Amino acid sequence: MKTILAFETSCDDTAVALVHENGATIAECTYSQTKEHAPYAGVVPEIGSRAHIEQILSVTKEVFLKADRVPADVDYVAATFAPGLLGPLLVGAQFAKGFSVAHDVPLVAVHHMEGHIFAGLGEKDFPVPPFISLIVSGGHTALYHCQKDYRIELIAQTLDDAAGEAFDKIGRVLGFGYPAGKIIDECAAKGDASRFKLPIALKEPGNLNFSFSGLKTSALKTVRELDSLDTQTLQDFCASLCNAVAQALCYKTLAACRVFGLSKIVLGGGVAANEVLRQMLRRMCAEQGVELFLPEKKHCTDNAVMIARAAIIKINQGRFSNLMTDVCAELPVHCIDSLYK
Ligand code: KG4
Ligand code: ZN
Repeated sequence: MKTILAFETSCDDTAVALVHENGATIAECTYSQTKEHAPYAGVVPEIGSRAHIEQILSVTKEVFLKADRVPADVDYVAATFAPGLLGPLLVGAQFAKGFSVAHDVPLVAVHHMEGHIFAGLGEKDFPVPPFISLIVSGGHTALYHCQKDYRIELIAQTLDDAAGEAFDKIGRVLGFGYPAGKIIDECAAKGDASRFKLPIALKEPGNLNFSFSGLKTSALKTVRELDSLDTQTLQDFCASLCNAVAQALCYKTLAACRVFGLSKIVLGGGVAANEVLRQMLRRMCAEQGVELFLPEKKHCTDNAVMIARAAIIKINQGRFSNLMTDVCAELPVHCIDSLYK
């Protein structure tokens, strides 16, 4: 069976994986730069680029060691080429190009959003397209239509903040550090979601776009006006916040299914690890007879297995990149073809 070596360095994780052509993971390792960026409450691109340069070789060696493989065992090399932070993207893309030349294996440039959409490819229950995909991360909140031939079409997106960005900004005021989504999620588990009423934007039918800036402003105001932030209040607030975000996401995703006459949903992106969102979407899909695929939590946040899995689709279609393929900070999904010869 053929083997894919994949790199994901579009933001603050140096992630490397070896994956079989059927999607099965052989080994994966990630170096998280949380520590490097922590003093700045956000990702500093220059610090990120340097940390990727320092880590990428050792993380790659670690993956080969864990898998008990050598570079000569690799048949294809893939890396995230867009979208993302330019410096960090360049590190992974150049490293992959170097590997492609040194070991004479084809190169596959991958679009980060396709990575999130196909994070579960090859796993039991991953649906055959067409399906609707909701990708919710720190930088994006969007609905996609994955067509029969695996082409991706953007249906709707956030008009302002991404859901993860709203979690991170609110978490900062709560003293949770960066990124805050996972801590808010953990805090929500013991809270009462009915205690705080937070607004859900763009509720009118027919509008599939999202907006989280009003919710963010209202949540920040609520925190400021609290007399005390005791444990119970904090838990209730986090539960109310997760509930409001999840409601907005679920409502629009199921509406998109109706508009496109589809009954399959694939969730992805860092916020897809959120337990309130997962439970709500599971319940609503069951009620409405919609098939739902939830990726494993470790493959919701940025990782290299998802990049290898998205690359498998391109390999099967005979679409490859070359040394002239450039990284791109912004690349709409309708321009994905520009990554291939
Ligand atoms: O997909 P990802 O790793 O990176 C981007 O491409 O943005 O997503 C990171 C985002 C962050 O905003 C983080 O706070 C959020 O995902 N996140 C979560 C959870 N785990 C990560 N948000 C809510 N609940 C979680 N369990
Ligand atoms: Zn991502």
